[in-house]
Amino acid sequence: MNKIIYLDAAASYQKSNAIIDAEADFLRNRYANAGRGICGRAAAVDDMVTTTRQKVAKFINADVHQVVFTAGATDGLNRIVSMLKPNANTVVAVSDIDHHSARLPWVGAGTRIAVCDLYNNFNIDVSRVPYADIMVITAMSNVLGVAQDVAAIIKAARNKNPNVITIVDAAQFVVHDEIDVKKWDCDFMVFSAHKIGADTGLGILYIKNPDLILPDKFGGGMVARVAGNKMILNIAPERFEAGTLPLTQIAGLGIAIDEIKHNRPNLDLIKYMYDELSQIPRIRILSARTATILTFVVDGMHVLDFGAMVGARGVCLRVGTMCASWIHERLGVDGSVRISVGAYNTTDEVATAVQIIKGIVK
Ligand code: ALA
Repeated sequence: MNKIIYLDAAASYQKSNAIIDAEADFLRNRYANAGRGICGRAAAVDDMVTTTRQKVAKFINADVHQVVFTAGATDGLNRIVSMLKPNANTVVAVSDIDHHSARLPWVGAGTRIAVCDLYNNFNIDVSRVPYADIMVITAMSNVLGVAQDVAAIIKAARNKNPNVITIVDAAQFVVHDEIDVKKWDCDFMVFSAHKIGADTGLGILYIKNPDLILPDKFGGGMVARVAGNKMILNIAPERFEAGTLPLTQIAGLGIAIDEIKHNRPNLDLIKYMYDELSQIPRIRILSARTATILTFVVDGMHVLDFGAMVGARGVCLRVGTMCASWIHERLGVDGSVRISVGAYNTTDEVATAVQIIKGIVK
């Protein structure tokens, strides 16, 4: 079997040896719990958590107390709902480029959903943002791969309601561009560590005013003191981190941040594939040439059949609705094929993938 060509970084980014080694070293040589021990080894783990949190804060232009470790972007998005405790009258603005995790927690909570109008490129139409109590903004669609003007959307939402609470899902944006929560001026922001090469099971939740928000989870670590049934909450961010943190994943996150800051995915590879595949009459490309991903459908072939055929030839890419049903409905397709690259992908790999695709879609 030939080497696998992995073109699905947008689903989950491959891990560098440095990140794998850091996690293995933590497990083998440095392992202890954080926030619970006073021996030297436990103190070193506390330092690791603190240093990594500082690195994340710098990475997103936040303050350290605003950075909460979660289990991932989906976990963060669900936890925001639990923190904000909406009711049936709460109006939540969403858009059809949202990933399921951005909208479904609000649907599950029984809120009133207001769907934003979109431009022709399917990004939110800033001139027609609806009134909302809460607004969820997908910084970059996982199907179309174009960054939104998050700051402008938030400004427009505040013009409609100065008290609107804004939430940015940066899960697909984070690997491609710098996050600046101060520039966006959002109230919450989430991303998953595994999308930038760190491990699964770890995410970041930014909270602009953490001291004004009550915790949604209770247990060890989030309280400073307990007296009978009374609890004195810890300061932020620990008040949002009940239970043991995903320490092994945190051990790799700092390295992932350093790597991604200096080595982003090479989008010339996407442009190359766009130029090659757009010459095939049966391939209908849905994404723009300048997008961060390449998404298409193949006339006369189900996307699952296409995925299975390229997969059998060693090319891993994503097919289906990609947990983003609404945009597929808008595009009038049941599903699509998505190619995404990491900094580790090479020109040779994408050239080989193109040849394989051409061999299948004649
Ligand atoms: N949201 C991830 C993707 O787009 C899983 O593939």
